[in-house]
Amino acid sequence: MQSFLHILTRYLAEKKKGQNLEWDRIRSPAEGQIVPYDRLCNSVDPKALNKLAVLKVNGGLGTSMGMAGAKSALVVKDDMTFLDLTVRQIEHLNTTHQVDVPLILMTSFNTYEDTLRIIKKYANQKQRITTFNQSRYPRISKDTLLPCPKHVDDDKQLWYPPGHGDLYCALMHSGVLDQLLREGKEYLFVSNSDNLGAVVDQVILQHMIDSQAEFLMEVTEKTKADVKGGTLVDYDGSIRLLELAQVPSEHVEDFKSMRKFKIFNTNNLWINLKALKRILDTGTMDLDIIVNPKVTDDGRSVIQLETAAGAAIKHFRNAHGVNVPRSRFLPVKSCSDLFLIKSDIYSLKHGHLIMNEERMFENIPVIKLGDHFKKAILYLSDKLLTLTPSKIQQFQARFKNIPNIVDLDHLTVTGDVHFGRNVILRGTVIVVANEGQRIEIPDGTVLENRLLAGNFEM
Ligand code: UTP
Repeated sequence: MQSFLHILTRYLAEKKKGQNLEWDRIRSPAEGQIVPYDRLCNSVDPKALNKLAVLKVNGGLGTSMGMAGAKSALVVKDDMTFLDLTVRQIEHLNTTHQVDVPLILMTSFNTYEDTLRIIKKYANQKQRITTFNQSRYPRISKDTLLPCPKHVDDDKQLWYPPGHGDLYCALMHSGVLDQLLREGKEYLFVSNSDNLGAVVDQVILQHMIDSQAEFLMEVTEKTKADVKGGTLVDYDGSIRLLELAQVPSEHVEDFKSMRKFKIFNTNNLWINLKALKRILDTGTMDLDIIVNPKVTDDGRSVIQLETAAGAAIKHFRNAHGVNVPRSRFLPVKSCSDLFLIKSDIYSLKHGHLIMNEERMFENIPVIKLGDHFKKAILYLSDKLLTLTPSKIQQFQARFKNIPNIVDLDHLTVTGDVHFGRNVILRGTVIVVANEGQRIEIPDGTVLENRLLAGNFEM
């Protein structure tokens, strides 16, 4: 509650003072503020892994996928959830290098139960898994700026987890930070729980040690799909994370420009734990406030004051970005992303996603599934979800199994479309069922460079 009062007081003061970000002082990052991955030294000392811990931020709800529980509890591939795959990745690291890297999961009141349900099967295994809860803040009424809940037990939807920037306070208050330091851990690798590309990379860890950077942010080249992602900027000579929500509306296009800000934050962060402790002990780790407006189910306009973990970069010494290959950023933001990961484009090896060798092209296909497919993919994902018979029928009718897409470049599907079993899609395939129409693609169909639109076919 103290942290909430602190952020609310800061917000009210900033609101009175006006916008504190001066756009003219923002520059593209300078040479040296972002180091290309291929320039890092390849010789690594495997002993450094003894000082490493891995943390997944796992407190969000995956609202853009319409979820009401932890996204990391979705079954992604081979009957395994994101969390199971992460455990496989760390187990593999530990056995290969004979080390004991612990896995830490930050949950929120929204994801705690889902997470515990999945990890309980690892309780008697060698892999150490620690969980701790992040804070729960009251939503604030947009009109009165007063907290919505009046009592600690008030409705869940009057509260929110205040963003992954809460990580630092939560690490400290839970005692996990001190515990890690006591165990001799010095480095923490943080990433989003749905990013299966965020595997421990010893080259980056070694670079952190050699460059004495207290904080590293992995960034990657922007594509048109990533223009909304936070970016690293130079602000008066120091490095900072700039999020879209902080940008004044007249500069949004500038922010999204791929020429001025070429990279975006993957949220793969490497943090020196001793430095974190030092900064937290001084009590001055304020992070830029992101105001997130929402409307509750009963129609109330509220705001959530949130922070982003990457914003901490400005508090650390020698902090900089590392420009990594795209393969280190494979998030699942939509059902189309999930479709791709579940497809034969990827296979699994020790929890890592490996691109199918039979694919002739280096890029992954562009998938655009319309709203009708949102639920179908989620049902296909979560076997634990209790499905009513009608829901099962609805799902089975839409997707008997994920089509073979190894030779696919682009897929757009909109409307009431149903895929049979073992469908093969190649090149560019567009299927559009107009309002009131239904398209059925029979079992075993091969569609190559085809446009299907209702009864009309090209
Ligand atoms: P995001 O909120 O950026 O993305 O969280 P998301 O999970 O895709 O959710 P939506 O669809 O935008 O709502 C990125 C990571 O940060 C975690 C999430 O669980 C995810 O792994 N997170 C987010 C937290 O741990 N706590 C939060 O309060 C918010």
